[in-house]
Amino acid sequence: MDVPTNRLGVQDSAAKRLSDITIGDELRTTTGSVEFDRVLGGGLIRGALILVGGDPGIGKSTLLLQAMGHLANAGERVLYLSAEESLSQVKLRAERLGIEAENLYLLAETHLEHLEAAIARLQATVVVVDSVQTVGRADVQTAIGSVTQIRAVTHSLMEMAKSRNVTTFVVGHVTKEGAIAGPKVMEHMVDTVLYFEGERGNPIRLLRAHKNRFGSAQEMGLFEMTHRGLEPVENPSEIFLRQRAEGPGGVVVTSMEGTRPILVEVQALAVPSVYSSPRRTTLGFDANRTSMICAVLEARAGVDLSGQDLFVNVAGGVRIQETGIDLGVALALSSTTRRTSIPQELVCIGEVGLSGEVRSVPQLELRLLEAEKLGFKSAVIPAVDRDKISIEFNSLKLKWVSTLQAALDASGLA
Ligand code: TYD
Ligand code: MG
Repeated sequence: MDVPTNRLGVQDSAAKRLSDITIGDELRTTTGSVEFDRVLGGGLIRGALILVGGDPGIGKSTLLLQAMGHLANAGERVLYLSAEESLSQVKLRAERLGIEAENLYLLAETHLEHLEAAIARLQATVVVVDSVQTVGRADVQTAIGSVTQIRAVTHSLMEMAKSRNVTTFVVGHVTKEGAIAGPKVMEHMVDTVLYFEGERGNPIRLLRAHKNRFGSAQEMGLFEMTHRGLEPVENPSEIFLRQRAEGPGGVVVTSMEGTRPILVEVQALAVPSVYSSPRRTTLGFDANRTSMICAVLEARAGVDLSGQDLFVNVAGGVRIQETGIDLGVALALSSTTRRTSIPQELVCIGEVGLSGEVRSVPQLELRLLEAEKLGFKSAVIPAVDRDKISIEFNSLKLKWVSTLQAALDASGLA
């Protein structure tokens, strides 16, 4: 009987004991960038299909061209399919980035069928498809860039990646329409989903894993866009705290981004509202959580927020997804409404619960070490985590709090 090859390109369908399966260390290849490697889970896995999504102009092509330059020089045979830009445009970018690589091949093509032939001809080991919205399959009737084409193209790329064991990156522009015909429709089909984020006018770029079959989906890589391309950011906290404002409304928090603690400033501004229902605007943090924190502040700590338009912002264009900065949001809001500054060298960490309790956060010790390293003098932290701290802090004074009210007292806002 004919045994069909499965999607992973494996013919041997005999079941194996878990303990008999070995994984070699050589499986991961470095991209030449610690930040990129970290987000991938420690380098590239051969045969993986990786989606790199992000707004147009954010730097996806730059990121990938730099990585491909490195891989090509490290012995990989790299094929870069440029379906949006001409070969000379890509060449210009490569020159600007100082990339010289013998084993880097470019193909300007919008037909996917030609890619497959080129991979076979070159015996390519790493492939980039830039972008999924500008290539199409001839056997699919709908227009290039349509949802049907994107699905079909992604499906073909997955087959190619697995059957030929080629590591494949596919670029997807985040479209104005959001979910429609954008990277979202491919997410469930690929091994790894990375999003490249940043703000216009700010050179900091964040590469975040949203899904990773080969590693943690919590990791984040930080880059700065310079005239020589993307450079790794080695001390993120310093960058985020570079332009701290003085006066009420700002407080520094530590957030865990994967395995790294990062210090960022949470800012809040309250202004008397002219609207019958005041505005609540949150940037860089979950808006529902901010609403909850506002309610808890009013109900449990007597902070009057009524009749005010409230703005909460995480400085530096970062988006924080963890609840450990709740306390920071609460203190920033109290600080602006009470027109009282929080000491510049104070950092706060903690989740806030509905009854006004300050709740536990993971990795407290790591966060405090980072704060001390950056010269912070005091930390307002959850009392419930007291027995998790096993080391002595010399210059950082620990202020254990169990309620929001106590946190306000400890930061001079009561
Ligand atoms: P690009 O990689 O083309 O973005 P995407 O592929 O996501 O659309 O990057 C575009 C921007 O990056 C462009 O505005 C110019 C800027 N840039 C630099 O600042 N420095 C550089 O070295 C390069 C190559 C680009
Ligand atoms: Mg591009």
